[in-house]
Amino acid sequence: MAFSNTLATTYDDKVVRQFAVMTVVWGVVGMLVGVIIAAQLTWPELNFGISWLSYGRLRPLHTNAVIFAFGGCGLFAASYYVVQRTCQVSLFASRLASFTFWGWQLVILAAAVSLPLGFTQGKEYAELEWPIDILITLVWVSYAIVFFGTVGTRKVRHIYVANWFFGSFILAVALLHLVNSAAIPAGYMKSYSAYAGVQDAMVQWWYGHNAVGFFLTAGFLGMMYYFIPKQAERPVYSYRLSIVHFWALIFTYMWAGPHHLHYTALPDWTQSVGMVFSLILLAPSWGGMINGIMTLSGAWHKLRDDPILRFLIVSLSFYGMSTFEGPMMSIKTVNALSHYTDWTVGHVHSGALGWVGLVTMGSMYYLIPKLFGQKQMYSVKAIEVHFWTATIGIVIYIAAMWIAGVMQGLMWRSINPDGTLTYSFVESVKATFPFYVLRLLGGLLYLTGMLVMLWNTFKTATKGRSVAVAIPAVVAHA
Ligand code: HEM
Ligand code: HEM
Repeated sequence: MAFSNTLATTYDDKVVRQFAVMTVVWGVVGMLVGVIIAAQLTWPELNFGISWLSYGRLRPLHTNAVIFAFGGCGLFAASYYVVQRTCQVSLFASRLASFTFWGWQLVILAAAVSLPLGFTQGKEYAELEWPIDILITLVWVSYAIVFFGTVGTRKVRHIYVANWFFGSFILAVALLHLVNSAAIPAGYMKSYSAYAGVQDAMVQWWYGHNAVGFFLTAGFLGMMYYFIPKQAERPVYSYRLSIVHFWALIFTYMWAGPHHLHYTALPDWTQSVGMVFSLILLAPSWGGMINGIMTLSGAWHKLRDDPILRFLIVSLSFYGMSTFEGPMMSIKTVNALSHYTDWTVGHVHSGALGWVGLVTMGSMYYLIPKLFGQKQMYSVKAIEVHFWTATIGIVIYIAAMWIAGVMQGLMWRSINPDGTLTYSFVESVKATFPFYVLRLLGGLLYLTGMLVMLWNTFKTATKGRSVAVAIPAVVAHA
């Protein structure tokens, strides 16, 4: 990496600190809502008959909170931190950076109020109504100006690969948001999509899949390419591979969306294109995973006593697992079994809890002490506890969903010799009950780990307060 420690550059870390703390806070909130909806799926009466506690309203609250509040704040924090260090300059337009923080928190609060009240555009991961969409656009354009402005004013010639991933994530999300959210307002919190019928579905899943590809993957790969080499104190295994990884990944992701619409009214050839590109996607995904894991070459022993590195490396294992499973599920005949079942939910959470969650937690454990002028987190033992509760929680969650999913798929397709269905739908729901209890247990463990992280962050921040007073808002790091 092209770091120069001889330059005494001052970095704008206030906004990084704000985003890092909110990553932890929103992580707890989003996962708590996840646990609540997991409980509601097990015991539906837990909505207590209150409309704004109903599953249909809390589910989008969960997905928005974990993806855009927890994941989003983590990405803002990491990209603002990394772009300054790798470009050797302070953030471009630091007031605009501050606006992105407050603007993004406002978006999250607006989501937290409007979704339980039942306002929705009805598009998965793009539920927020048009006034909030406009605010998102303003924040995102500002984010792009700050990020690319910083890259543009850099003092080193080379643009480190992590910035390529962050940059592509920022550009792609802007494009996805603008195209998919195009709507005609029909009231102050009501709108109709600009598209109709199968085109609407295609645009939605072009958006949905690339939200996975760019929000939940490319941005976090940016984190991976900075924090793993830093924590392992080793250069990236193959810089050349990281460039191939980047171009192959961003090119391929854009075409894979139709795998969400197998066996629908979408033209068959479009579904096949989606399937083929999903299969190809295995190669760049695994190239990236191998590049990250092999960065540890010659330093494997560090895994034994460095829980932060363990978070980062295990996240890559889950990344590899979900990017193997995804292409398999995109094969039409496999999808015929997995679609509509909890297998999809298992796949989602092996990516979400295993990859997105763990890589974010590892990166924040690296960042938070530095942002509060500390050498390390208040309790390293607590990081260890967090790692194990989270990992065990993920394994229970996804194993339960895999078994439940395959079981549901098989029960639904089972036919008696006379052509009637062997099982009614309700029988499959009853058979799923124990797995929902197990998923709840896994989710509770994962949430417990996050609460430990919140406590550890609070202790680190308050311990560092005396130091922080001595350091102005703009922190100097060598
Ligand atoms: C304590 C941890 C968590 C629990 C207990 C949990 C639970 C749930 C539940 C019960 C659902 C609804 C499943 C269904 O409709 O059948 C769900 C959906 C979802 N969750 Fe989580 N979740 C957790 C953490 C996360 C995290 C950290 C992320 C992302 C970073 C995430 C992303 C999603 C997504 C994308 C969906 C929608 C899946 C789909 O439509 O197939 N979850 N979660
Ligand atoms: C090579 C990479 C991947 C491929 C080809 C892939 C493919 C798939 C397929 C085929 C589905 C099921 C669609 C359906 O039957 O409805 C799916 C669902 C999903 N995947 Fe992946 N996946 C990949 C990686 C990931 C990763 C790393 C994550 C998370 C971080 C992720 C998140 C999701 C989500 C959130 C859904 C559920 C969408 C919904 O219905 O709401 N995927 N993926």
